[in-house]
Amino acid sequence: MSGFAAKTVLVTGAATGIGRATALAFAAQGACVMIGDIDDRAAETVALISRAGGTAAFEHCDVGDAMQTTALVEACITRFGRLHIAFNNAGVLPPAVPFHEIVETDFDRIIATDLKGVFLCMQAEIRHMLEHGGGAIVNTSSVAGIVADPNMASYVAAKHGVAGLTKAAAVEYAQRGIRVNAIAPGFIVTPMTQPWADSQVFRNAFFAQNVIGRAGTAEEVAGTVLHLCSDAANFINGALFVIDGGQTAH
Ligand SMILES: NC(=O)c1ccc[n+]([C@@H]2O[C@H](COP(=O)([O-])OP(=O)(O)OC[C@H]3O[C@@H](n4cnc5c(N)ncnc54)[C@H](O)[C@@H]3O)[C@@H](O)[C@H]2O)c1
Repeated sequence: MSGFAAKTVLVTGAATGIGRATALAFAAQGACVMIGDIDDRAAETVALISRAGGTAAFEHCDVGDAMQTTALVEACITRFGRLHIAFNNAGVLPPAVPFHEIVETDFDRIIATDLKGVFLCMQAEIRHMLEHGGGAIVNTSSVAGIVADPNMASYVAAKHGVAGLTKAAAVEYAQRGIRVNAIAPGFIVTPMTQPWADSQVFRNAFFAQNVIGRAGTAEEVAGTVLHLCSDAANFINGALFVIDGGQTAH
């Protein structure tokens, strides 16, 4: 598989979960992958890619810090010469708390990573892409960027914001060779959601709503991200691509 040979891809939040699966999938198709994450288990993702014959590197980066996101993109250019594709995926879940009881510092923490983190990464990536012939960006929103889960207001606000940032950049840069899309995963089993996957009560409630009758896998999300970054998706821009097994279809 060489669909992304000679492409350099930046993936944030690839220490585990959806980001790791997507980094592996890009590398398996020939891309050089730069990972930005606060979790040093990203080095394990790099090792997995190397063992499979691919090329990857890891830069420690808190996506909520502008100096670190700028340094991440610079590290990507220094290491691989170029940045063609970016998957802004790093995120955290807040504790489930009723709206009126959310602590301000928790709200700020979620917005800093899940919304501002995407904004800062996009800025650094777009500055490079504008100077070097364009590119493709995919941001990770959520079904919580379309509908509201109860007791998750900060996450719902951040993920709706990611959809907004995606559309804003898509309309500003379409004429300059940069496509920007977002994905809206439903329930995907990853370290983030493992406690829900392990809960029979949660599973019963969730599967009662979800027409497909199961959770998704990180690899199933990765497939959509690769498609959105490929030339086959050249006319897809500003879209929020739902990957939820039909959860929000009814
Ligand atoms: N799993 C799901 O059901 C689901 C559904 C919808 C959206 N999402 C979103 O998908 C993305 C990936 O989540 P996942 O399910 O793979 O969970 P995960 O916990 O496995 O991955 C999250 C990654 O983000 C990294 N990260 C967290 N804060 C960071 C920061 N400040 N700077 C850099 N990296 C940081 C973590 O270290 C980790 O590698 C998140 O944005 C999440 O909100 C997940």
